Amino acid sequence: MKSSEAQIRRLTSSDAAAYRALRLRGFHDHPEAFTSSFEEESLKPLASSAQRLAEDSSCRFWGAFVDDTLVGLVGLERDWRRKVRHKGLIIGMFVAPEFARRGIARALLNTLLKHARESALEMLVLTVTRGNVAAESLYLDAGFRSWGMEPGAIRVRDQGLDKNHLFLHL
Ligand SMILES: CC(C)(COP(=O)(O)OP(=O)(O)OC[C@H]1O[C@@H](n2cnc3c(N)ncnc32)[C@H](O)[C@@H]1OP(=O)(O)O)[C@@H](O)C(=O)NCCC(=O)NCCS
Repeated sequence: MKSSEAQIRRLTSSDAAAYRALRLRGFHDHPEAFTSSFEEESLKPLASSAQRLAEDSSCRFWGAFVDDTLVGLVGLERDWRRKVRHKGLIIGMFVAPEFARRGIARALLNTLLKHARESALEMLVLTVTRGNVAAESLYLDAGFRSWGMEPGAIRVRDQGLDKNHLFLHL
């Protein structure tokens, strides 16, 4: 299957249940890859997912669907304060492993980049945990560059993990 067989579209509140399930799966199976934790996020009700996907949310998510099943996710978070509204933060990139290496993450990222350019955003930022070769390659291939490594940025199972801060000027 190629990414062209996955449909990419913006998620809305009506996708909340599928969004919540896939997101929690990512947090559970890849605790080192995300800043949010399964333990905290799984306590939040479905309504909080619906609110995050609502039109007036500070986040916007896109999903990749195969045969109407959500198999991949990525999000863009905006901070509307005037000094930082030129920047967008990429969050929550996850593709279910049974659909890996089919170009789905790249297709999700390209959709997000197109939206960011159309929104007159000037810069995108994100962090990738040191050692996450798949995610780092995805973003470096798309033109992102590192501005620094944050030592011990997150703690997972009592171990400090470094985070690489990446940016892309649009
Ligand atoms: C990282 C992740 C999103 C990639 O999803 P994917 O759909 O398999 O990625 P794609 O097929 O679109 O691959 C795009 C590029 O990413 C890189 N890549 C993806 N998987 C890779 C792997 N296992 N090893 C090395 N590079 C990899 C490659 O550069 C690839 O391009 P190529 O296929 O032309 O070589 C997925 O592995 C994932 O969800 N990982 C767990 C969660 C995570 O780490 N999220 C990112 C948080 S910052």
